[in-house]
Parts: sequence; C-alpha cells; structure tokens
Amino acid sequence: MNPTNPNKALWEKGDFTRLAATMRESGETLVQRIGVKPGMKVLDLGCGDGTTALPAAKLGAEATGIDIASNLVEAGNRRAAEAGLTNCQFQEGDASNLEQVDDETFDLVDSIFGAMFAPRPFDVAKEMVRVTRPGGRIVMGNWIPNDPTLVAQILKISSSYLPPPPEGFVSPMIWGIEDKVVERFMAAGVAPDRVAFARDTFVFDYPGTPSAFLAEFKNYYGPTMNAFEAAEKSGRAGELQGELEELFGSQNRSADKRKTMIPATFLRVTVEKKAEWSEGDERHRR
Ligand SMILES: C[S@@+](CC[C@H](N)C(=O)[O-])C[C@H]1O[C@@H](n2cnc3c(N)ncnc32)[C@H](O)[C@@H]1O
Repeated sequence: MNPTNPNKALWEKGDFTRLAATMRESGETLVQRIGVKPGMKVLDLGCGDGTTALPAAKLGAEATGIDIASNLVEAGNRRAAEAGLTNCQFQEGDASNLEQVDDETFDLVDSIFGAMFAPRPFDVAKEMVRVTRPGGRIVMGNWIPNDPTLVAQILKISSSYLPPPPEGFVSPMIWGIEDKVVERFMAAGVAPDRVAFARDTFVFDYPGTPSAFLAEFKNYYGPTMNAFEAAEKSGRAGELQGELEELFGSQNRSADKRKTMIPATFLRVTVEKKAEWSEGDERHRR
C-alpha cells in the first residue's frame, strides 16, 4: 500500500481507539439490531478497533475486520485476543480495493462510519457488493451532511479551518445523501428498490466533562487534529476551540454534567443483494 496515502495517514494519526472506547454500547446495540446470527460470515469494513466486529463475534459470527490503519488493526487483534475470541480477526486493507477478499465471501458487510471515509466511493460500493454473497446484505452507517448533531458538526466545523481539499476530492459526507448512495450502488449493479434508508443514533458515552471529551478529539482524532494544526497556523485555534466547546457543551444530554453523553444521528443504509445475482446484470439498472 502506498506509504504516503493521505487517507491512511489521516487515520493512523492520533489514536482512534480513544474515541471508539466511548462508542461500545451503541456498537453492540447496532449489531443486535441488524440481525447478526451465529455462524454468519461478517465483514466489518473500516472497522477501527472493532466497535462492531467484536460484538458480532460475541454473537457467534465469523467476524473479519478490515481497516486501512495498521495501528487500529493491531488494536482490534489485541482486543479480540483479550476477549478470548478466536472467531474475530483483523487485517489491513482498503475499502476502495479489497484485493485480498474473494468474490461473494460474506453474508453481511457492515461499515459503520468506515467506508464512507475511503476515496473513490464508486469503487467502494462495487467492492462491498462484490464481496457480499448473493442474498446477503450490506449495512452502512454514514454521517449526514449539515445534520445538527455531534459528528456531522465536528466535521463541518473542522473543514472550515482546513485549507481547501485537493482537486477531485469527494467529501465523505456525500455518503449521507440518499440519492447519491442509490447512484453509487446502482453503478455497482444494485437495483434502487434494494437500497433502504433509516435514521439511527449512536451515543457517545464519556466518563468526563464535555471539555475533556473535546480534548480527546483534539489530541487523538485525525480530522480534528488536522483542523487544530491548520487553525494554529492561521492564528484561529482559539476560535476553533470556542466553536467546538460550544458544540460539545450544548449537545451533552448527561444529567450529571461531570459526564458526557451525546447522541449523534446517522443514515443507516441497507442493501439487499439479490439471490440470483450475476455481475453486470443490466436488468437491474434503472
Ligand atoms: C470514524 S472511524 C470508525 C471506526 C469503527 N467503524 C467504529 O465505529 O469504531 C473510521 C474508520 O475508517 C477507517 N478507514 C478510513 N478509510 C479507509 C479505507 N480506505 N479503507 C478501510 N478503512 C478505512 C479508518 O482507519 C477508521 O478506523
């Protein structure tokens, strides 16, 4: 893999496990809701340290996590070993090109705030469809552009402090727009009536104040770290800090204000791959 891949560098920066630690309960709930069953072959794409892969394995699935960040793959394998899970393994890979995965391998491909961050979204949709077995499912969790809740706002605020992205850059947030999602899966050969949408919620649960939680993002979450670095250079770090303090404080729903509990809305996308699938099946194009 290209050592200067900026997508990989962004997520190896800092330590996403610090944030993932606040997402465990929602990860478990989600896996139950999407119907993971014993024996299912599940791919968690853009898995981080296994927020959804570990709970899937605990439910008896054969779970594979693939992530572009080597530090997170290592953390996932460590967590699986610590939990005594022999049916959960993590490996490095790129959602835009899953070259190490055979066609039609998985019953379920889930990607919760993962594949949305990969470049070349049309390739990502194609790869997810390719590695799903006929009759299987893909479930994506995608943040929604301009949504007023936490993560969409962090990414929006952060991007307003960053220099303009390179030409040809496609915002990850486009994965939160239903029409665009349908377009991407259609290009991968999926009929539009096989793509369904629902609004769902992830709750961030942190045992400290909203300011302390913000510090975790500032110190360990690649996109926020980059925003602070850019803001330092332009003399606007105080402004960025202020905007984010206001955001985190106002979104905190914990009754105990020494703690943080922040719900964030996302778009849950479910794709049903038809059982009698054949690649390039033109009947299923609009
Ligand atoms: C916001 S984190 C979410 C991690 C995990 N799904 C969770 O819910 O805790 C985004 C993840 O996507 C991964 N990622 C970003 N681009 C990727 C790519 N091209 N291929 C695979 N994973 C990628 C990052 O390394 C990171 O682990």
